[in-house]
Amino acid sequence: MTLCEYKPGLEGIPAAQSSVSYVDGQLGILEYRGIRIEELAEKSTFLETSYLLIWGVLPTKEELEAFEHEIRYHRRIKYRIRDMMKCFPESGHPMDALQASAAALGLFYSRRDLHNPAYIRGAVVRLLAKIPTMVAAFQLMRKGNDPVQPRDDLGYSANFLYMLNEQEPDPLTARIFDICLTLHAEHTMNASTFSSRVTASTLTDPYAVMASAVGTLGGPLHGGANEEVISMLEEIGSVENVRPFLDDRLERKAKIMGFGHRVYKVKDPRATILQYLVQQLFESFGHDKYYDIAVELEKAVEEKLGQKGIYPNVDFYSGLVYRKMGIPIDLFTPIFAIARVAGWLAHWKEQIEENRIYRPTQVYTGLHEASYIPIEQR
Ligand code: CMC
Repeated sequence: MTLCEYKPGLEGIPAAQSSVSYVDGQLGILEYRGIRIEELAEKSTFLETSYLLIWGVLPTKEELEAFEHEIRYHRRIKYRIRDMMKCFPESGHPMDALQASAAALGLFYSRRDLHNPAYIRGAVVRLLAKIPTMVAAFQLMRKGNDPVQPRDDLGYSANFLYMLNEQEPDPLTARIFDICLTLHAEHTMNASTFSSRVTASTLTDPYAVMASAVGTLGGPLHGGANEEVISMLEEIGSVENVRPFLDDRLERKAKIMGFGHRVYKVKDPRATILQYLVQQLFESFGHDKYYDIAVELEKAVEEKLGQKGIYPNVDFYSGLVYRKMGIPIDLFTPIFAIARVAGWLAHWKEQIEENRIYRPTQVYTGLHEASYIPIEQR
């Protein structure tokens, strides 16, 4: 039985009932469990926000301390995972390394007990704790260095930046990075979240769920766009070149990376916050001409495409923040994944709590009753 017409990309088709997050694309509102993203970015931390997303309520002081403590304790990765990662080609994309390593975690924690709250908590804690360590380890190993061990005296974001850069970040950089993670932690039924829910619905293990979502996030139309934004700003090269570049792209019907969204028809609220964070970083650590190019591009795109509802999305300014922090471009999407693990875990938990396996239908456009032609007659 077909209930509704086929919609490419499932546009407008609800794929789940969810209370994790909410977007109003006309008003530019994003809420996690009912709380506006602006308020969480200002007042919360990434780990507190993760707790909120996954367990549905803000933790008490004791609950948050216990959660942070468990995550600190589980940050190290097994030497066999590290040795496996050492064999990955250094020319490979870090998203592929992350996908393979996330899946490999399932080899070590294979007991699947989805009805046991302790199993759920263990998986949540391990994935939040170990994924940043795996991203940092691959980065150091592909440069020929040994991975840096996590430091228990550092918070979640400061520790990640320390493991990545082999030096402790200043408090402003660590706080801004933490806000970036909060902003990327969850975003309703996007492609990778849908992928995580489909995989979860088979009742497979949560490591396979994360690996499936990481694979989906990597594409240039989804999380991979933040890398492409920086390449595009570098290609533009100067403020004067913005309009000729834009005209040329639009004439060739090419997309402008970091703009447009299936749901938002106004500026993505996360882009507004990220733009403010870029300004803060530049005030403290020096200006960057790519910011001027970005601002001019935003103005020019708004003039040409604003009537179509094409405005900056989350990926437009995030790359500038990470670039200013000295993070290599191909780590932007793995960092997106570090954050989005929180949202994927929240959806995994929600899915298995009231599960029905995904098994949609299709509109068949092929042949019927076709004959088999012997190979010598084809
Ligand atoms: N540049 C130029 N035109 C655009 C853009 C853009 N970035 N985005 C959409 N349009 C136009 C598109 O050409 C089409 O025009 P027309 O109706 O005249 O043919 C119209 O807007 C609708 O576009 P669509 O591609 O059908 O929209 P969609 O909802 O299928 O795609 C999108 C949404 C995000 C994939 C798309 O806007 C895009 O490719 N943007 C560039 C890549 C990007 O920045 N991706 C990050 C998305 S946000 C974070 C995330 O999801 O991870």
